[in-house]
Amino acid sequence: MVIIKTPKQIEGIRLSSCLAAQTLAHTASYIRPGVSTATLNDIAHQFITSHDAIPAPLGYGGFPKSICVSINNVVCHGIPNPKTKLKVGDIVNLDITTILGGFYGDVSASYPVGVISTQAQKLIDVTRESLNRAIDAIKPGVKLNRAVGETIEKYVTSFGFTPVQELGGHGVGLKFHEDPFVFHYKNPQGDIRLKPGMIFTVEPMVNASDSWKVYVDSKDGWTVTTADGALSAQFEHTILVTPEGCEVLTQL
Ligand code: MF3
Ligand code: CO
Ligand code: CO
Repeated sequence: MVIIKTPKQIEGIRLSSCLAAQTLAHTASYIRPGVSTATLNDIAHQFITSHDAIPAPLGYGGFPKSICVSINNVVCHGIPNPKTKLKVGDIVNLDITTILGGFYGDVSASYPVGVISTQAQKLIDVTRESLNRAIDAIKPGVKLNRAVGETIEKYVTSFGFTPVQELGGHGVGLKFHEDPFVFHYKNPQGDIRLKPGMIFTVEPMVNASDSWKVYVDSKDGWTVTTADGALSAQFEHTILVTPEGCEVLTQL
């Protein structure tokens, strides 16, 4: 069941989403060659807890850290580690989810580390633009998969890139992951018509490859990588459907 949030709930989710966006900007300002992913985790953890909030990933399904940090061919759910340091030419995604006053906000973005390849920069730009195009299509009365999945798949494949299929966006706000599942490719299964008060994420993971295939690391049970080793980028926003269209709650 897709929850229609009340005005009080929307206000709480708006505040948490704003904190998530501020945490992302603060943490991203420390991205540079040589910084470890554990340091980025600790910076985000400190920022979130000093604002009376909780990092949602910590302990979620056994996840051991406070944010996800995913480098290059890691699609998502990268576990911060003091031995993993950013290097020039990497692309890195920070995924941050806060719980403030019991409400969840979820945001992520991909960043270059120093100078990166033209192809890597293109992947980042196309992935960000695919999210923006989906956002432009979100309004009441429209089918979710038409606005989001079709828009993203059509745009990224025109550059020879491919949206990951196994993972998707999700309803969010009262819990970390709620209905609906948000496909980033055309899949009309269980499609819903958008209504004001719905809140969900759109978070395309896009591979610089013609393959959407991914693996989950069998040792840590979390780290998702592209099956063919290709680069993958991701951007995520928490989005409220409004009577006029939508509001991006994780926009600063
Ligand atoms: N933030 C991720 C998402 O966008 C979920 C991370 S689950 C975790 O849905 F356990 F890895 F934190
Ligand atoms: Co997220
Ligand atoms: Co999410």
